[in-house]
Amino acid sequence: MSLDILNTLTPKPAHVAAQPGSFAFTSPVGVWADAGAGDVAALVQAELGRATGLAFQPADAATAQLVLRLTGDDAASERYTLRVSGRGVEIAAPAPAGLIHGYFTLRQLLPAANWRAAPLPGVAWRMPCVTIEDAPRFGWRGCMLDVVRHFSPKQTILRFIDLLAMHHFNRLHLHLTDDQGWRVEIKAFPKLTEIGAHRPNTGLGFATTAADPHDGTPHGGYYTQDDLREIVAYAAARGITVVPEIELPGHARALTAAYPEFGCLDTPVEVATYFGISRDLVNPLPRTVAALETILAEVMSIFPSPWLHVGGDEAPLDHWRNSAEIRDYMASLGIASAEALRTHFTAQLAAFLETHGRRMVGWDEIIHYGGLAPSSVIMSWRGERGGMKAAQAGYDVVMAPVFPTYLDYAQDEGTDEPLAIGLGATLEDVYTYEPSARWPDQDSFARVLGVQCQLWREVIPDDAHLEYMAFPRACALAEVGWSAQRDDFAAFQQRLAHHLQRLDAYGVNYRPLAGPRPWQKGGTGRKAYQPRFNLK
Ligand code: ACM
Repeated sequence: MSLDILNTLTPKPAHVAAQPGSFAFTSPVGVWADAGAGDVAALVQAELGRATGLAFQPADAATAQLVLRLTGDDAASERYTLRVSGRGVEIAAPAPAGLIHGYFTLRQLLPAANWRAAPLPGVAWRMPCVTIEDAPRFGWRGCMLDVVRHFSPKQTILRFIDLLAMHHFNRLHLHLTDDQGWRVEIKAFPKLTEIGAHRPNTGLGFATTAADPHDGTPHGGYYTQDDLREIVAYAAARGITVVPEIELPGHARALTAAYPEFGCLDTPVEVATYFGISRDLVNPLPRTVAALETILAEVMSIFPSPWLHVGGDEAPLDHWRNSAEIRDYMASLGIASAEALRTHFTAQLAAFLETHGRRMVGWDEIIHYGGLAPSSVIMSWRGERGGMKAAQAGYDVVMAPVFPTYLDYAQDEGTDEPLAIGLGATLEDVYTYEPSARWPDQDSFARVLGVQCQLWREVIPDDAHLEYMAFPRACALAEVGWSAQRDDFAAFQQRLAHHLQRLDAYGVNYRPLAGPRPWQKGGTGRKAYQPRFNLK
């Protein structure tokens, strides 16, 4: 084959053994799937059938061109073996998740045109003979998408799931609530979306006060429970668990704007139009905790995820200290400080989630306050120390340090880059991130579930910009999470140059390796490069 496609697989598989020859799918493509692999067969048939124009149809194992074989009973395994021989393709795995990963690797062996939504004329669906033995390094390979600061329609989320699945990610963390909006329908509290899902205005750039320049344009939107169930099912079919985040007790102004009785102030607050850290927390009173439990129960009914994220970052306790009602409540409990009340608040949420068989996830501030359940998972975002401390205290952790996993930071220095929150996490910074590099001990490193990239969207106003910031850095993070043995950066870049043809076929607005295209630059207008923070 003219292009050595085996050197373009991204993320890099564990073992690739090239064999002589090649194989091409020809219509009709017979598919044989083990009982238990029917959903994967349906995915292959629907997606590859649409892209290639080939008819995929059931066949017996002896004549099938594609065999999907379940080999064991390790339900948690994501391992797979992909064999292409002169007679056809076999994907074998202990569990459906592995078959899904094998399927997405198979798509990388085929011409990139399989990422189009309709067949091109004259493409031969040929691939090299090979045996690929593959398994992920980490069990948590996540991407967080903030749909609050700027909302994306459901189709964008589905599209994003396709792109995550292409790279063997297995967690989509949806940041659904914050000061600037509430994006999940809650039937018991309709004002959360009636009032909380929109704002009249948005501050320009990283505006941090109402007095900063604003755009004068209403912004909002939310997902119905049916939308979210659809997203969850679409992701699950592609090996991805959607982890919802309901931010508490801070970053909750949309909630307190909708229901002031759950806030701390006598004066009403509005859905925030600007960014930064707000003091408008939910109050920790019993009526509020009961309401939060009702909300979380609805969230659990939508999301089967074993993990439920309750935020926990950036929550100054001043309004708790200043409220007579909260002080009286503290006195009634014999709690002496706002910090101890925070512990009590977290403990109530943790116990509630544990009762419902879910694991609480929180940003690393929650380690400081405590009140966690033993099953709680800590996301280390303020660098790596929070993760180290949490792991040494016996908690599972996900490494999501600002540098270099916050993809809202610019990909390069210089004014060619468009709007970003700061300088900078280059593709190389992301690719060379090694979570174990500074880890103090092997034992607690075993608590690292994996890694996650973050797409905060204060200054990512639209979907094209979202893709620009996400790609190709998410391809690099995918490899940090998946590949036990990474290349050096130069080799990765070479591989990526070919991999980008897949993103081209899918129509992704990624940043080319040589820098932004003319129309991707920030210019001097609303997408002008204005870094506020510097990561280095
Ligand atoms: C965060 O970036 N405040 C989690």
